[in-house]
Amino acid sequence: MKLIILGPPGSGKGTIAEKLVKEFHLYHLSPGQLLREEIQKGTTIGKAIRKDVEQGRLAPSKFVVEIIKVGLWGKKDYLLDGFPRSVDQAEAIEDLNIKTVLYLGLSESAAVQRLAGRRVCQDGQHSYHLSLLPPKQEGICDIDGSKLITRKDDQPKIIRERFQQFERVTRHVVEYYRKKNILKTINADQSPEKVYADVKKALPKK
Ligand code: AP5
Ligand code: MG
Repeated sequence: MKLIILGPPGSGKGTIAEKLVKEFHLYHLSPGQLLREEIQKGTTIGKAIRKDVEQGRLAPSKFVVEIIKVGLWGKKDYLLDGFPRSVDQAEAIEDLNIKTVLYLGLSESAAVQRLAGRRVCQDGQHSYHLSLLPPKQEGICDIDGSKLITRKDDQPKIIRERFQQFERVTRHVVEYYRKKNILKTINADQSPEKVYADVKKALPKK
């Protein structure tokens, strides 16, 4: 199965992706996560995209498309989390022939509330929310036991910028897939369990 999951910042892409990859044994590719790792390691790509990512702007497509193509090499079943985010990126992966695009719809005010309370583990793989989705032990990741931290781009000014990028650029990608008739819109303003149940109903039947 090949899937794309799109949605505004904080809509729950990562939360739902974690469940999908576990249940359906998919390879999870999140450019946001990979770009943060490049920044942390101080690689050439990391240095080139650091400012954009930390200030909530999209990184240049040439880096992101490259990371995706390398990451997907030899993979059959995968989930692209937050990619593509611009029409040029969507066109660059037309050859992958992906037939299901999940779109998590959520209002800006609900997403801002989620991001303001988000905490992630050290390597950024698992996310929690102070009140909506708390870890079992305060400040500690349930899965890897690391200390929870706040993501650098989860500050009010940067959250707003990320939203503007979504509306200005990524909204066109949503329309691109809607026109192709492969967009599945999910109401993300429900509990994670309900959102996941709706996502599963939208998956292709085997
Ligand atoms: P990325 O890391 O993808 O960030 P984003 O799109 O802004 O989305 P988030 O990861 O913040 O939110 P999410 O939808 O995953 O929500 P989550 O599940 O964590 O990208 C970061 C940056 O990288 C971009 O700004 C850009 O600079 C760059 N980048 C990435 N892709 C790129 C591309 N293709 N091209 C160019 N640049 C790119 O949930 C959020 C919170 O809500 C959590 O606290 C969670 O616990 C909680 N929550 C989740 N679901 C629910 C629910 N149903 N009810 C209540 N709380 C919930
Ligand atoms: Mg995410």
